[in-house]
Formats: sequence, C-alpha cells, structure tokens
Amino acid sequence: MALRKIVLEGDEVLTRKSREVEKFDKRLHDLIDDMKETMYQANGVGLAAPQVGILKRVVTIDIGDGCLELVNPEIIGAKGESEDVEGCLSVPGVYGVTVRPKEVLVIAQDRDGKEIHITATDLLARALCHEIDHLEGILFRQHVKEYVETEE
Ligand code: NI
Repeated sequence: MALRKIVLEGDEVLTRKSREVEKFDKRLHDLIDDMKETMYQANGVGLAAPQVGILKRVVTIDIGDGCLELVNPEIIGAKGESEDVEGCLSVPGVYGVTVRPKEVLVIAQDRDGKEIHITATDLLARALCHEIDHLEGILFRQHVKEYVETEE
C-alpha cells in the first residue's frame, strides 16, 4: 500500500466525469487500498478516486464504523432533506452548509464485482452523495448555501 497525493481544487481532474470500472483486478485492489490509506492518513470520512488523480468510479467512505469500498456506485433512491456542515479533503479549510437527502439508496459493486445495496441516512447518506458527486466532477461548493467559519 502507498499514500497517494490528494489533488486540490483548481486541478482540472476534479471537474471531469469518471469512467465505469470494468476490470476487478489487482490494479483496482491496489487503488482501493491506497485510497483507504490516504483517506485515513488525512483524517477524512471519504475519498473518491479523482481526488487521487484517477478518473475511475471508485469511492471509499468510513464515518467511524468500518470502511465501505464502493465501485461504480449509483444513487437509485433518495428521500427527505438534511442540512449540515460539509467539507472536502480537496478543498482544505473550507466548510459550508449544504442540503442533502436524509436517506439514500445506493447500488454499487465491491472490489470483486459483487453487487452491494446500501440504505444510508444522515452522515453516511451525505458522504455517499458527496463522493458520488466527485465521480461526476462536482465539488461540494456547488451545494453550499452558506460558508461557515471554523476554528482550526
Ligand atoms: Ni470531497
């Protein structure tokens, strides 16, 4: 495993749409392992492959109860609204209030291509929306209603 460099806002790669993963091979497993290591090292709750410069539809998320590794994730249902503060490892030091669905239903594949279904609420729903947006080249700023000051 190896740490990868997190791409920062301003880099064009963050505005591009990622490609569907078709090969569930060692190269994919290495990418996922590296993304997890990079995410934990940066104290993030989520990371999308474009944030390490790879335009593939892969995300890792850990809101504190274990790591989700999602390949080709897609939101297939959403309910309600939830307003909370959000940030992004590619936009350091910037936090803003966004409105996201309260609950989402996501379909994805695991690292070996097996189908996974996830029903998520609140923070996990927010993280899924945020990371899946990255795969479309969308940063959380596009959802910010109001920026907040934080003490760091
Ligand atoms: Ni992000």
